[in-house]
Amino acid sequence: MQANPRLPLGDDARTLPAGYYTDRDIYRAEMDRFFRRSWVCAGRQDQVRGRGDYFLREVDEESIIIVRDLEGSVQAFYNVCRHRGTRLCSTPDGTFRSMISCPYHAWTYDLKGRLVGAPHMDGTPRFCKDDYPLYPVGVSTWDGHIFINLDGGRSPLEAQLADLPAKLRPWKMEELRLVERVVYDVKANWKLIIQNYSECLHCPIIHPALQGLSHYLSGVSDAPHPSYLGGPSDLRAGVETLSMDGKRRSDVLSGLPPEDWAKVYYYSILPNLLLSLHPDYMLSHTLWPRSPDRTEVICEWHFHPDAVANPGFDPRGAVEFWDMTNRQDWQITELSQLGLKSRVYTPGPYSDREDLLHYFDRMVSQDEDAASSGRGARE
Ligand code: FES
Ligand SMILES: [Fe+2]
Repeated sequence: MQANPRLPLGDDARTLPAGYYTDRDIYRAEMDRFFRRSWVCAGRQDQVRGRGDYFLREVDEESIIIVRDLEGSVQAFYNVCRHRGTRLCSTPDGTFRSMISCPYHAWTYDLKGRLVGAPHMDGTPRFCKDDYPLYPVGVSTWDGHIFINLDGGRSPLEAQLADLPAKLRPWKMEELRLVERVVYDVKANWKLIIQNYSECLHCPIIHPALQGLSHYLSGVSDAPHPSYLGGPSDLRAGVETLSMDGKRRSDVLSGLPPEDWAKVYYYSILPNLLLSLHPDYMLSHTLWPRSPDRTEVICEWHFHPDAVANPGFDPRGAVEFWDMTNRQDWQITELSQLGLKSRVYTPGPYSDREDLLHYFDRMVSQDEDAASSGRGARE
């Protein structure tokens, strides 16, 4: 992806100091700001289709339960018992019959988080079950994506997403179904993964197959926004999608206008969702920082159910293509992380084709008010 028109770069358009990738205090501050106090993409509604279905997500060392309650709403709670704090659930996904029961002394919660059973508490003065619901986590959805906010979500998800839902409406993402998931353990800071995703100068060098299907300078970026960066790139003539042979195995998604049939749209939706929208499928990456130099990445391929139902449906070309491309990206990103740790590293100058990275860097390195007001790189 490449910005065009590009943002003007000042003399300070240099990469961030090493501490942004290695320092535990900066990492902690980023986790608080981006992963506890903003909306984080947790997964898809597709993962909790039935009542009682749940999955767990680990966010900044917190385990969160995301569950569809018996009335059909998605709820999210800290995975912490109100009795003596025990982790309630350890199995990464599954279905609760109607309750969440603590494995220690069997305090029991309904799927709205209300404490409904607390054995041997009758003799405790003034104990009232209503005072001990599960700690809630903010939950909101957009086009099939589930977002959570550990801080409860004082500002709505819609404010964070701004005009993105209207922009991405033609893909009708809520209709798409998960077909494949690969989880990667990347030994690099979470920001390096976003920065790498936000430029394609490396594509002819690192991704020869991608370069064969989509020219690395064909991208056009939307005006950057404090919570998302990105835009479309063109597929080369005769290329139908990004897959091993460049051919689609299913129809173009029904809502797409013809001008988008030969493009792939790439968006970094901060802090942790990378969306790659192809003519026939959606690729998503969610980033889960584990330490300053380690990030778990969940990559998923989502197709339309009509395509999946087709007896000839074969997603392997798309899966193989992106699994290969992902591994190329992780390898070079891990090398970046290693170099940044060197004592001789100092911030290096950006190309004017790396303007989105500079915008992103300024946004994460400036104070929160400046970032949320969008002053960031424009000053
Ligand atoms: S810690 Fe959960 S019931 Fe005792
Ligand atoms: Fe790449």
